Amino acid sequence: MAVSHKALFVDENAQFSVVERNGPYPLDDGEVLIETIFSGVNPADIKHTTHLGIKNTVLGYDICGRIIKTKDHSKFKVGDIVAGYTPSGVGRDRKYGSHQDYTVAPESMLFNVPDNLPQKDAACLTVVTMTAADAIFNIFDLPLPSRKSEKTTETQTGPLLIWGASSSVGFCALQFAAASGHYPVLVTASPGRHDSLIKLGATHCFDYSSPTVYQDIGEAIESLGPIQYAIDAVGAEPNPLASEEFQRSLSKNAKLLSVIVRNDKKFGMPVATPHQDFVIQPPGVPHVITVPGRPESLEKAWTALLWAAENYGRSFRLPPVEVFNGSAEEALEELHKVANGSRGFGKLAIPHPIK
Ligand SMILES: NC(=O)c1ccc[n+]([C@@H]2O[C@H](COP(=O)([O-])OP(=O)(O)OC[C@H]3O[C@@H](n4cnc5c(N)ncnc54)[C@H](OP(=O)(O)O)[C@@H]3O)[C@@H](O)[C@H]2O)c1
Repeated sequence: MAVSHKALFVDENAQFSVVERNGPYPLDDGEVLIETIFSGVNPADIKHTTHLGIKNTVLGYDICGRIIKTKDHSKFKVGDIVAGYTPSGVGRDRKYGSHQDYTVAPESMLFNVPDNLPQKDAACLTVVTMTAADAIFNIFDLPLPSRKSEKTTETQTGPLLIWGASSSVGFCALQFAAASGHYPVLVTASPGRHDSLIKLGATHCFDYSSPTVYQDIGEAIESLGPIQYAIDAVGAEPNPLASEEFQRSLSKNAKLLSVIVRNDKKFGMPVATPHQDFVIQPPGVPHVITVPGRPESLEKAWTALLWAAENYGRSFRLPPVEVFNGSAEEALEELHKVANGSRGFGKLAIPHPIK
């Protein structure tokens, strides 16, 4: 098996480059070796180094590929087309980076790709879908799509607001809220996206860059009642949901979330791997910090991910997924653009082998 391959890499000095890797990577129990077909790009590919101190590793989490080796008693077999993501944290093994032609993943973080889910979309699905699912089904505790007919509690009513519903996390959160049967769902996005967000289940749309956005939301909730759930799905600065004007639209016991760490105890943070401890060392912090996992959170989020995969193209979709065409060095430039927000709407899948 040819195992020398290109990889998008970050060294221990946080310098990003394209390197040549040699394999094959050894497998631990419960792991599989994947020949990468597409790797999906996320802001975290770069931001986990620059913001959280995860270095000396191959970049990338999201993947779709073909299994080429398993351990004994695997639930997968050689030849299976799978998608999913790989572990993160300080000390992350290089074998887990998805932006390389051969990648190792724990089989518990993978699923078989159904026929209705295109491989390029499968490669971009897991990180953002799991993050949205953690917000909507674990922390907001809305009913899963399959259980939406069950009686809801009083706290499961009241307006839900998604700030930045055309971010990939926001797009998924909107569809999960709609599939859960929640009403009303208020969103902010650029005006050009409002029609498509209404088709996905938004009931009220606001332009986040309008100087009257908080006033407009305030007027809408006069008839709807105060906002019960709000998620900042972008991580914009300053925190749009911490503004004084926005506080007037909130219910007293509103649940507030942001997809990035906020220095404000009112805000919880949904994560893509809610069940796993997350070891980080932000720049300037002299020691590692362990963010404890919530093992009980896996079941609902994973159920929602599988529902999204099974219903993909019908009741659930990602923003448009573009297939990257260019060299490994150019792919690295695109990762930086995704991380600094200059690439805008949509997902990017890198085909393998990387050129
Ligand atoms: N906690 C976790 O585990 C986790 C997991 C995944 C992502 N994240 C974080 O979540 C954030 C979003 O990631 P993503 O991949 O979903 O992003 P993305 O798809 O790259 O988001 C792009 C979209 O953001 C929207 N946007 C930009 N600035 C905005 C603003 N000020 N207000 C409202 N919308 C704005 C734009 O919407 P328009 O087109 O409407 O202008 C744009 O289309 C990032 O900060 C990422 O690091 C965290």
